[in-house]
Amino acid sequence: MTGDDAINKTAEFVKAKFESEATGHDWWHMYRVWQLSINIAKHESGVDRLTLELAALLHDIADWKFHDGDMEAGPKAAREWLEKLDVDNSTIEHIENIIRNVSFKGAGVPSSMTTIEGKIIHDADKLDAIGAIGIARTFAYGGSHKRPLYDPSIKPKNHADFKAYKNDAGPTVNHFYEKLLLLKDRMYTATAKKMAASRHEYMERYLKEFYAEWDGEK
Ligand code: ADP
Ligand code: NI
Repeated sequence: MTGDDAINKTAEFVKAKFESEATGHDWWHMYRVWQLSINIAKHESGVDRLTLELAALLHDIADWKFHDGDMEAGPKAAREWLEKLDVDNSTIEHIENIIRNVSFKGAGVPSSMTTIEGKIIHDADKLDAIGAIGIARTFAYGGSHKRPLYDPSIKPKNHADFKAYKNDAGPTVNHFYEKLLLLKDRMYTATAKKMAASRHEYMERYLKEFYAEWDGEK
């Protein structure tokens, strides 16, 4: 099987699995991360395209948030699929590692991608968490978890570790402060940094409007 065949088959597999998903982790999130990764990679050198595209498509294949906190569910599901496609073991190991490290784990927990493919996927995934699409995904996630939109009496937290971040069930607007507004300073690549700056600015304007409407000033 050629690399392109493996990529196309993986896209079909992911599309079928995530067709109707309501938390913002649907097929179109995988699609956008895939396309963003390809675009970011155009400005980077030494990128292995097969690893990049397969990992982008598979990065949320079995996210811990939807598998009782099991951090190994994603890498395991990816390996099972990639072995069927006869992808070589070192590429599978690299993809497992990317999936293991892609997730945001709290304000106090630094990101730890080491390879260029991992850095690009990290940046693409975080870009899709901010800006206009990021806002839509965040409220979709909050609604699907029965969280209120906003409660002025509950202040956002600065989570020191993953456990505190994972167990928080605050209102959705708090998620902007606990994660989304922190992402622009966590991008690895110059291309993503630039894109993140304008998405960030859009979120700030959005929040300003939100509060103005909340208190009936507008
Ligand atoms: P990562 O891609 O870093 O693993 P997640 O999958 O946790 O991050 O988050 C992806 C998106 O899901 C977030 O950007 C947000 O839109 C939504 N999301 C995750 N956790 C929450 C939350 N507690 N409240 C609102 N939205 C959330
Ligand atoms: Ni993702």
